[in-house]
Amino acid sequence: MENEILLKLNKVYEPPTNILDTLFLKKGDYEKLYKESIENPEAFWGNIAENELFWFSKFEKVMEWNHPKYQWFVGGKMNITYNCLDRHIKNGKRNKVAYIYTNEDNQEAKITYGELFESVCRFANGLKSLGVKKGDTVTINMPMMIEQIIAVLACARIGAIHSVVFGGFSPQALKIRIQDANSKVVITSSWTKRRGKKIFLKSIVDEAVEDIPKDIKIIVAQREGDFYEYLENEIDFHKLMESQSPVCEPEWMDSEDPLFILYTSGTTGKPKGVLHSCAGYNLQTHITSKYIFNINEDDIFWCTADIGWITGHSYVVYGPLSLGATILIVEGAPDYPDPGRWWKIVDKYRVNVFYTSPTAIRMFMKHGVSWTQKFDLSSLKILGTVGEPINPEAWLWYYENIGRNRCVIVDTWWQTETGGHMISTLPSLPQKPGKAGLPFFGVKAEVVNKKGEILPPNTVGFLIIEKPWVSALRNCWGDEERFKQYWSEIGNFYFAGDLAAKDEDGYIMILGRADDVLSVSGHRIGTAEVESAIVSHKSVAEAAVIGKPHEIKGESIKAFVILKKDIEPSEDLKREIKFQVRKELGSLAVPDEIEFVETLYKTRSGKIMRRVLKARELGQPIGDISTLED
Ligand code: WT7
Repeated sequence: MENEILLKLNKVYEPPTNILDTLFLKKGDYEKLYKESIENPEAFWGNIAENELFWFSKFEKVMEWNHPKYQWFVGGKMNITYNCLDRHIKNGKRNKVAYIYTNEDNQEAKITYGELFESVCRFANGLKSLGVKKGDTVTINMPMMIEQIIAVLACARIGAIHSVVFGGFSPQALKIRIQDANSKVVITSSWTKRRGKKIFLKSIVDEAVEDIPKDIKIIVAQREGDFYEYLENEIDFHKLMESQSPVCEPEWMDSEDPLFILYTSGTTGKPKGVLHSCAGYNLQTHITSKYIFNINEDDIFWCTADIGWITGHSYVVYGPLSLGATILIVEGAPDYPDPGRWWKIVDKYRVNVFYTSPTAIRMFMKHGVSWTQKFDLSSLKILGTVGEPINPEAWLWYYENIGRNRCVIVDTWWQTETGGHMISTLPSLPQKPGKAGLPFFGVKAEVVNKKGEILPPNTVGFLIIEKPWVSALRNCWGDEERFKQYWSEIGNFYFAGDLAAKDEDGYIMILGRADDVLSVSGHRIGTAEVESAIVSHKSVAEAAVIGKPHEIKGESIKAFVILKKDIEPSEDLKREIKFQVRKELGSLAVPDEIEFVETLYKTRSGKIMRRVLKARELGQPIGDISTLED
C-alpha cells in the first residue's frame, strides 16, 4: 500500500487527451516558442503584444533596458480597460456574462460585459467629478463584490493609480497604506459577511482615517438593509454612479504609466508598495490566462483569491477580463456553512477552470473526501495552485478527489513583484507533483549560489530571473532604493527571495523563502513587521518571530518574547500581545504561539539569529554559530 502511494507521488502525469484537444498550445509548442522567446525576445513579445492587445497608438520599441530600469512597448498608448471591456463589446460580447457573484446566503448576481462597461464608465465619471485625475492614488478597501471590480476598473479607466488593501487588515495597517500612498479618496463598503457574521469594513476605514486630515473623501457601497447617514466627506457609491453618464472615454495611457500599487511584506518592518505599469502587466496577465489556464470562450473560470492580493488583481480582474472570460467571484469563507460549499459551487456553476491555494486544498483534505464526493465535478478541466509550495500528498489529493484523475494541475509560481505567472507547466506538458515546473515564455529562471553561479541539477540554491520580463515591477512606491535591491543582491539578476532546485528536465521545485519572510496560508508576512507589532505592547522589551511548519497553513507563527523588567509572564499577557498584533496588522499575522524567554540568540552586531531560534525549536542541528554573542 505504502509503495503504491510512493509510486503515485513520484509519477509523471501526462495530460489526458480530452484536455489536449481543447488547448491553445499543443504538445511541442512550448519548446519551440520558449526558445524563440529567449533568443529573440523583442520579435516574440512585439508580435504577441500586437496580436493580443488593442493599441491606441503602436509602440515604437519593444524593450529598453538600462540596468536596473527597463521599459516595455516604449511609446505605445493604450488603456487596460479598453482591452478588458470595449473591445469585447465591439466583438459582439455585450451580452456575455463577465461576472457571476455568489455569497454565503446563496444570493446571486450577474453582470454582462455591456453592463460592466457602463457601470465602470459611470463610476469613472463619478471619480472625475470628485476631482480624481490621472496619476492620483485611490485606496480601495472592499469585500469580494462586483462594486469592487467596478471601482478598480474605473480607476484604470481614468489613469488613477489604485491601491487595493485586503479587507482583513487592521485599521492601523490600512492607515499606513493610505498615508504612504497619499490617497485622497478611499472606497469601501459597509460590511462583508464571513461565517455568517457581519464584519463592518466601513468602521475599519473610519478608524483608519480618524487622524488623517479631513480632506479625504470616503465612498461607501451600501448593502442591503443599510441606512447610513453620510458625513460631509462621505459619498454613496451607487448614487455617485447613477448620477453620471455611461460614456467615459478611456485615458490613453503610456505603456509605462503606473497602473497600480499593491503593498506587500518584505524583510523590514514597513510594507512596500509594488508598482506595476499598464501595457506589460496587461500582456502578461492576458497571455498567461490564455496559455496556462487555457480559458476557452464558453468556460467558467473561478480563481478563489481575494482581489486584495496580487492573485486577485491578475486572475480575478485583469487577465481573464482581457481574455473576455466569464468569471465567478464568491464572498465568504470556503467551508461555511459546511466544507462542501466550494464543491457545491463548482457543481452548480459548472466551473471549468479552478485556481486556489495549497492551504485551501490541505484544509479540504482534512475535512475528508465525503464532502467532495457528493458533487458532480465533471465540468473541471484545469486546476491551478498558487501561493506556497504544494506538497506532493496535497497535489495527489487534488488530482484524485477534485480532478478525478482527468484534469491537469498547473502549479504556478510567481509573486506580487512579477505581476503574472513566471514558472508553471503548461497544460500540454507532463505534470510532476510538488514541482512548479518550467519557466514561462521570456522567463530565464535559474538556481544559483550567492555569487550568481548556476548550480548543478537537484541542488538547492537561490531562484533568480536573468532579465526583465514584461510584467516585472517597475518600482517601489516612493522608494527606488528598495526597487534596486531586487536587481543587485545576486549578480545583476532579479532575486526572488526563494530557495529552489531544478531537476534534469529543467522542472523547478520551490522550497520556500530564503529571507525573513513567512508564508502563512500563502500570505506573505514579514517577521520584522510582526516583531515590531509585538514590541509596541507596553510590557514587551524585545521579540523574535519564526515560522514553524504547519499541516494546513504551510507555516505558523511562533514568537519569542522578552518582557520588560519586573513584568510577570502570564497567559493573560500572551492574549494581550496577540490582541496587539491583531490591532496593528490584522488577524492573519497573529502568532499561534508565544513563549516568554530571558534572552534571544544574537550576533555580535546585535542581529537576532532567527535561524538558530528556529533550529532549536524544531530540534534540528543549529549550524554555524561562530558569530553568535551569547
Ligand atoms: C511568494 C510570493 C503570487 C501569488 C500569491 C503570493 C510563494 C507563490 C508559489 C508556488 C511555491 C510559491 C513564494 C513567493 N509562492 N507561488 N506555486 N510554489 N511557492 O504572492 O504574496 O507576492 O508571495 O509566494 O515564496 O516568493 P506573494
